Amino acid sequence: LANTFQGDGEPLIASLALSGLAFAASFAMIRWLGPTLMKAGLKGVDMSKHNRREIPECMGGIVAAVYLLVVIVFVPDVVFSQAAVEEVVERGRLLHKFPHSKLASYLSAIISLQSITLLGIGDDLFDIRWRHKFFIPAFASIPLLVVYFVDFGVTSIVVPIPLQPYLGELVNVGALYYVYMASVAIFSPNSINILAGINGIEVSQSIVIAVLLAINDCLYLLTPYPHPATDSHLFSLYFLLPFLGVSLALLWHNWYPARVFVGDTYCYFSGMVFVVVSILGHFSKTLILLLIPQIFNFCYSVPQLFGLVPCPRHRLPRFNARTGLLEPSVTPWTPERQPRAPIAWGLKLLGTLRLLRVTLDEEGRFVETTNFTILNLWLVWRGPLREDRLALEITVMQTVVGFFGLFVRHGMARLIFKE
Ligand code: UD1
Ligand code: MG
Repeated sequence: LANTFQGDGEPLIASLALSGLAFAASFAMIRWLGPTLMKAGLKGVDMSKHNRREIPECMGGIVAAVYLLVVIVFVPDVVFSQAAVEEVVERGRLLHKFPHSKLASYLSAIISLQSITLLGIGDDLFDIRWRHKFFIPAFASIPLLVVYFVDFGVTSIVVPIPLQPYLGELVNVGALYYVYMASVAIFSPNSINILAGINGIEVSQSIVIAVLLAINDCLYLLTPYPHPATDSHLFSLYFLLPFLGVSLALLWHNWYPARVFVGDTYCYFSGMVFVVVSILGHFSKTLILLLIPQIFNFCYSVPQLFGLVPCPRHRLPRFNARTGLLEPSVTPWTPERQPRAPIAWGLKLLGTLRLLRVTLDEEGRFVETTNFTILNLWLVWRGPLREDRLALEITVMQTVVGFFGLFVRHGMARLIFKE
């Protein structure tokens, strides 16, 4: 395998080893620190169970700490990898050949991930208001954008063949490209945080996305000739492999019946890992293809996120204690508080399209509508499900959609873009 990677495979093997270590360390820390977190008040009620036990929350903070230590330990491998060192010896000018730009990318990634972890822990401790925390990921992404500016600086997008007669082959969108990347940085962590609320789902969706990104990297690394993007994709693997290590340890404890919760820290942190690798690897559009279920969940949530329909503190599916199954949770309406006419029309339309379950009384007034999340919608379609079954089905759906995204990227892209 090392040879396949053009002789510079040593850091990759070191990264694999460190990822194994990250798994083991996270696994042990999750076990050890549960009671400590409980004592510090970092706990949450597992709502979809018969006995609503309290379990430790914010385990994301612990695994993020393990992850950050591991990627910091990896710094020497990145800058003193065989290829870099050989070049140094050959020229005999050690200081001048030091791979400053590699180190800069790597450190900027670490700074971004540390900032986002800080935000996550703050949120788990103090429940920061939505509108206050919304833009913080954009600030966390500034070091990445600076490195992107220096290393790539590409701000033009390739125009699909049918539009080329009008727009030309490339359109330079200039500063807008940075706005776009900052938006991806805001979107990715937040979208993972709102596709949540049943055991295991935050971690399993993140693992699927990370595995698909790693497969995408391997597609570039395993080409018969050295691909020009080899370095970016190796870089991406150095961040994804330890992420998979800590996430698998977390999933072990967070899968149904959960013994720990991941907290907002994990959701922000995992979303930011994807942002880091995809901005510095220059494949943010591929990331968007892999986030299709999250994009759907966000768009579907818009009526509640923007207050057109009341949004309760929790929108997770409702646990039916009699059957032990999850059912869609609902927003109740009273005769006094009915949706305004355009909203009512929209709700009824969604009901007809089977994109929402709407309950009306005999006089046609709204009694309840299901909450706008993909988890509730899935239950509207599939009927009541046990919690782990729902998590599994959503994870399988994410995997299928993700492979389709990769297919679009590598197969169909040739039809609409010239290679
Ligand atoms: C987001 C969602 C919210 C959802 C919550 C669940 C939006 C706008 N916000 O809020 O609707 O209810 O995530 O995580 O969509 N919990 C369980 N079982 C689980 C996971 C979580 O019961 O498997 C409960 C626990 O009580 C836990 C709490 O959810 O303490 C964590 O919620 P938190 O992450 O703080 O909610 P938000 O991210 O703000
Ligand atoms: Mg959350």
